[in-house]
Amino acid sequence: MHLSRRGLLFGSAGAAAVSLAGCGAGEETAQLTGFTGIAMPTDTSERWVIEGKSLEDNLKKLGYDVIHQNAKDDIDTQIKQIQSMVDEGVEFLIIAAIDNKSLGAVLAEAKNQGVTVISYDRLILETPDVDYYASFDNYQVGVLQATHIIDRLQLNEQSGPFNIELFSGDPGDNNSQYFFMGGLDTLESYIYEGKLVILSGETEQSPTSTKAWSGDVAFERMEGLLKDFYEDEDLHAVLSPYDGISRGVVEALVDNGYEPGEDDFPIVTGQDAEAQSLKAIKEGTGQTETVFKDTRQLASTVTEMVEAIVNGGDPEINDRGTYDNGFKFVPSLLLEPVDVTAENYQEVVVDSGYLTEDQIDAGQA
Ligand code: BGC
Repeated sequence: MHLSRRGLLFGSAGAAAVSLAGCGAGEETAQLTGFTGIAMPTDTSERWVIEGKSLEDNLKKLGYDVIHQNAKDDIDTQIKQIQSMVDEGVEFLIIAAIDNKSLGAVLAEAKNQGVTVISYDRLILETPDVDYYASFDNYQVGVLQATHIIDRLQLNEQSGPFNIELFSGDPGDNNSQYFFMGGLDTLESYIYEGKLVILSGETEQSPTSTKAWSGDVAFERMEGLLKDFYEDEDLHAVLSPYDGISRGVVEALVDNGYEPGEDDFPIVTGQDAEAQSLKAIKEGTGQTETVFKDTRQLASTVTEMVEAIVNGGDPEINDRGTYDNGFKFVPSLLLEPVDVTAENYQEVVVDSGYLTEDQIDAGQA
């Protein structure tokens, strides 16, 4: 049974023992119990469902009470879910935000109750009330995707020019800009040199963005680009930030006569090592790359953060100067993303037990 936090006055985040409201120093203290609220953003992308479940299982194994909810892409629902977790008396919030700027008010409330707030994978912006951030090196994700394009088009050996189009993620997700910057910075010199040409001229985050990371939205934009700019020109590559977007892009390419598996099928990148995309990578029927982020590791890292605080210690942090949320550099723990292609998917994804070969063949986790 967890203690209700309502009516309790907490010290700073990370304090294992807290004074009861109204009690003076040295009087009765309440031990943290690990009671945690997990707020996940969507169930349309595999990872959040799996991670929500892993976090819940990990924390329950430690004997902590957990409230776990998924807001299914609705910002107001997420705010309400978090508010009700605070009302229930959680001591910790683990939040993967749908919209990184909409949680200020509810987090101020959480802070009043002494809740420790961990921003999970996506940085929550414009509030002082975030204690920790745990994610991957998001800039590096974009670097890996762009490097795949450079390698496959042999940009250092060939003179080109090659045509490329850029896609970025949901504009309300802080990660989108890091993926995009990592990709664009890596491709920039080839663009200046004229080896890479973007016929649409769309090189900024806003026109390239994909609302809700939706494959359907990406399909529509790719269809439009192909009609407007590639009736008489070949497209050679698409920088795509996420597998769901990549599949929408591939669908539009196929719809417009490009044949997967043929040498002139555009190079398409991705992220998250989703089963359906790995199937295409393995069989050569669509995108050729994805970026694997071991989300099991992220879930256990965040579990360890909570555990460390409950036990009176400080969570492990490896970055204090990268992730500025508008109020402060949020102490972060960043894990490494890994580039995955047909050559190494077995070693990285299957041998590590993340997905089985059967799941990949079925295209479903
Ligand atoms: C995550 C990506 C994911 C995307 C869409 C981002 O915040 O970092 O791993 O592909 O959301 O769900």
